Amino acid sequence: MKTRITELFGVEYPIVLSAMMYVSVPKLVAAVSNAGGFGLLASANVSNSEEEVKKAIREVKEMTDKPFGVNIPMLLPERFKVAKVCQQEGIKVVNTSIGNPAELMGWAKEAKMTVIHTCGSLGHAMKLAKHGIDGVIVAGSEGGGHTGFVGTMVLIPDVADKVKVPIIAAGGIADARSFAAALCLGADGVAMGTRFAMTQESPVPENIKQRMLKATADDTFASDMATGFNARALVNNYVQRLMTYRKGASSWEKFLSAIKLSRKLGIKARDIAPLGRKALTRKAESTDFNMTMVPGFERIRRAYQDADADEGFLLCGQVAGRCDNIPTVKDVVLSVVSNVQAVVEGANAKIKP
Ligand SMILES: Cc1cc2nc3c(=O)[nH]c(=O)nc-3n(C[C@H](O)[C@H](O)[C@H](O)COP(=O)(O)O)c2cc1C
Repeated sequence: MKTRITELFGVEYPIVLSAMMYVSVPKLVAAVSNAGGFGLLASANVSNSEEEVKKAIREVKEMTDKPFGVNIPMLLPERFKVAKVCQQEGIKVVNTSIGNPAELMGWAKEAKMTVIHTCGSLGHAMKLAKHGIDGVIVAGSEGGGHTGFVGTMVLIPDVADKVKVPIIAAGGIADARSFAAALCLGADGVAMGTRFAMTQESPVPENIKQRMLKATADDTFASDMATGFNARALVNNYVQRLMTYRKGASSWEKFLSAIKLSRKLGIKARDIAPLGRKALTRKAESTDFNMTMVPGFERIRRAYQDADADEGFLLCGQVAGRCDNIPTVKDVVLSVVSNVQAVVEGANAKIKP
């Protein structure tokens, strides 16, 4: 297969493993790259130690000699340190996300790195193109983890019409049908998160894989209440509590709920005070839960490292509802590439007069 993405990354298929903290670890990254796709190593869960980032990159290199990249969320305080490690380790592609990559662009260009940014809106994609980004991962709102508000079906063609750089579609992609659809919408390749999280090589704990298997497309919920940024996760006890706190509450109720929630999450009273002031002046918005960002990320760790299916924050896309098996990574990639022609021919047959 040949698209602008296979050429940009030097890979066989335009299929990318989405960056997923705690999930896109060396074993899964290497499996996707070895299968002919492009693995993106998550750094959010190892970024507080340069040694750990280096170790993770070296682990991937031990398992594959194929190309792979590293994700750097721009909200990480250690983003420059992670970028430096990537440069030292000869990483050619970095995938920036959550935040503005502008401050990294000049440096990355000098280091001759390819920068691909993940974004969830047309406005953001257009701004990035102006900053000289090499490509964009455009993630529709049905995707797992931090996501935007416009679905893949509307977002991809909108971006493809207005942005010239190569586009990788993400959000809700799992098989040959969604791969073909993404190309028809104007993308040059796809990224899959949830589908690859539900594979044999994925480190997602078995009990959580089982939850994902049982989930229907209705079983996820997206909100900014857990981490301060809109994030899609499986509904469980934790998410259900967040939903109850939020629903139809007045500013005062939100404030009281925030206090209760913060106590549960272990946030100190002095950190709640600014929220209280806003609530009392009726300016409280859901983003006031930003103070929960750190505990929210801790809930993600609790899900994917401690296997806490009820109280962890189980980032997951709607497409879990369409995934009813735990195949190998190779099977996922091969089933996409070997069935896409038949899918396109099937569609073509329908539109012939
Ligand atoms: C468990 C999980 C963890 C994620 N962690 C990150 C991350 O560390 N950095 C990032 O940029 N995006 C992260 N995301 C978002 C994915 O990169 C991607 O946009 C999304 O999974 C695509 O949608 P899909 O799940 O429908 O395939 C995460 C998603 C999931 C499901």
